[in-house]
Amino acid sequence: MKTTVRIGIDGKDLELPTVVGSEGERAIDISSLRKETGYITLDDGYGNTGSCRSAITFIDGEKGILRYRGIPIEQLAEHSNFIETAYLIIYGHLPNRAELRVFSDLLTDNATIHEAMRHHFEGFPADAHPMAILSSMINASSCFSPELWQTSNSDHFESHAAKLISQVRTIAAFSYRKSLGRPIIYPNPAYKYTANFLHMMFSEPYREYPLKPEFVKALDLIFLLHADHEQNCSTSTVRMVASSQANLFASAAAGVCALWGPLHGGANQAVIEMLEQIRQSGDDGRRFIVAAKDKTSGKKLMGFGHRVYRNYDPRAKIIKKACDELLAAANISDPLLDIAKRLEEAALNDSYFVERRLYPNVDFYSGIIMRALRIPTQMFTVIFAIGRMPGWIANFKEIMEDTQSRIYRPRQVYVGPTANDYVPLEQRD
Ligand code: ACO
Repeated sequence: MKTTVRIGIDGKDLELPTVVGSEGERAIDISSLRKETGYITLDDGYGNTGSCRSAITFIDGEKGILRYRGIPIEQLAEHSNFIETAYLIIYGHLPNRAELRVFSDLLTDNATIHEAMRHHFEGFPADAHPMAILSSMINASSCFSPELWQTSNSDHFESHAAKLISQVRTIAAFSYRKSLGRPIIYPNPAYKYTANFLHMMFSEPYREYPLKPEFVKALDLIFLLHADHEQNCSTSTVRMVASSQANLFASAAAGVCALWGPLHGGANQAVIEMLEQIRQSGDDGRRFIVAAKDKTSGKKLMGFGHRVYRNYDPRAKIIKKACDELLAAANISDPLLDIAKRLEEAALNDSYFVERRLYPNVDFYSGIIMRALRIPTQMFTVIFAIGRMPGWIANFKEIMEDTQSRIYRPRQVYVGPTANDYVPLEQRD
């Protein structure tokens, strides 16, 4: 049954249709508002704005629920792997054996980047941030697939999607090797996706990296848990760019830039830097909690809080458990894990965090796992970007397949100077 809401503006009564999502989320369709009344809506930070209809990921932030294509994240974390989940997110259903084989073969066939791309890596300084390299190289690699801008976005979509998922991992590993001044290690078709990434990161031409199954499993889980998260900052950026009909690689490169910021994907790096700072200062976490509550300190408890979750982030629960399991299995003791647990306990018992419903998010414990895998802190956000690629691709696909899709073009409330005249330079002193 169609329902509407009535609003009164300037003495005029307006009836607006409501939209109900498949999980009962309700929205007011305001698309006729400006035409009918001259008003627009103002929503700083988009906290109340539904920017699209999407069938990919469902989040209930109050209850701490996350589902990809309807399947709870807990089930995928337990039974699936990153590549199967990537297929689910992009194509909307779990693949059968034949579909999975075709997808895996496409990833393997597209793992190597164009040889000429190697020269691009030479131009970056050794201390360049790998997120800058990643976004540049994703864009640069599109130059080697001219059909990306010569044909419609839907032509060759499957091979472009596979190329992006596969090559983002190769580019990431190459950028790490470059930062160390070490020779590049090519992908090995004998390895599966995540094992191949670790191989490209840590093998040497004269010594194969000994792949430990528990390390591969932990990293694969991190990729899977990051694979999509509905309309966050980077995904909205990808959709924004895609809405202009820019190609998949250009849209994903923009997503990498948005992800880089410390309030978004960059938080996993910021968490470890915060924990390290606490450790070095001899604080047991209590002093930091006091600073994080003080708005003038410029500090925040990184890895805590979320725009959508007002409950424990379900990914953080899974990562915390995986973190304990990995460190126990690999016999690793990390003082930062102890500090993180103490901080969490202190925050969850502190009225500031309780009242604001701030809980650990996905970034709070993921860095401890990555440290155990010997992945350097600067690469953490790159790992996030590799994991998020299926989500960006699926959102790109939704825009591309939506025949009603319009270019994203928000309005604004202008608060600058009112009309005034140009003053020639000689009259301005
Ligand atoms: N530490 C201290 N205070 C916080 C924190 C935090 N981590 N997070 C939010 N708050 C405070 C805000 O200052 C605000 O206080 P006020 O009511 O006194 O003004 C209150 O809690 C509510 O803030 P929100 O409206 O929930 O914050 P918002 O939705 O704008 O931002 C964000 C969400 C950016 C994630 C924020 O919680 C934050 O900065 N967290 C730390 C960075 C982080 O971990 N980012 C990763 C997010 S997950 C991801 O992107 C993968």
